[in-house]
Amino acid sequence: MIDKNRLPGHVAVIMDGNGRWAKKRNLPRAAGHNAGMKAMREIVRRASDLGIGYLTVYAFSTENWKRSVEEVSGIFKLLVMFVTSDLRELKENNVRMNILGDCSKLPEDAKKSVERAVSETESNTGLMFNVALNYGSREEMLNAVKEIAQKYKNEDIELDDISDELMDSCLYTGHLGIPDPDLIIRTSGEKRLSNFLMWQASYSEFVFTDTLWPDFTPEEFERCIEEYQSRDRRFGGRRK
Ligand code: IPE
Ligand code: IPE
Ligand code: MG
Repeated sequence: MIDKNRLPGHVAVIMDGNGRWAKKRNLPRAAGHNAGMKAMREIVRRASDLGIGYLTVYAFSTENWKRSVEEVSGIFKLLVMFVTSDLRELKENNVRMNILGDCSKLPEDAKKSVERAVSETESNTGLMFNVALNYGSREEMLNAVKEIAQKYKNEDIELDDISDELMDSCLYTGHLGIPDPDLIIRTSGEKRLSNFLMWQASYSEFVFTDTLWPDFTPEEFERCIEEYQSRDRRFGGRRK
């Protein structure tokens, strides 16, 4: 059973395995992404019901542009569909939606959709649901370094002002006041970060599961949280 008093404040999920899920069923990859979106909807609902503060999902990486135009445009179409079908429910559940990543390169309709979802949920105070979209951790860190260099150049800061906290505040997550993830879940059996939250994951707990993302259920999500609750987080210190 989950201990509701010791929930992870921020859970991040690398939703992987849509393609293999489709392949196993002789379906096009798009069918896998569609099933993946449904799984995501259920996890957002459960995270919100549990009272988790922040849920971040990795939906599209800066490297995912390497895929076929057909697959990429299909993923963005699904995103538009998700906003159309789910924005009302998100609002009813007091969920605030945000985007991590560079939205300027998104197809116009996808950009409009996410901007609408973000602005219409801006004042909500429940779960903060972050979609990492055209997100890359290296790009995020490079942007932060440029922001800091600009401050230095403008003589707004001195060299010694460059700190963990300043770096934090210049990341996409810092701009939105999102804390570091306590728990990072990756599905589909892969055990890597794939350019996800590399700065923020310094002391995150990892749970890897072989389940392909479209098969990932709210029950398994809760089991991942139980696993997290069984860990001893020391942050470099000693066990109390
Ligand atoms: C994750 O599933 C979704 C995205 C990366 C957009 P994949 O499409 O990577 O699925 P696999 O890894 O090919 O099975
Ligand atoms: C990571 O999955 C990105 C997302 C889940 C959006 P990938 O399938 O793109 O990662 P690699 O290529 O296996 O590392
Ligand atoms: Mg993959």
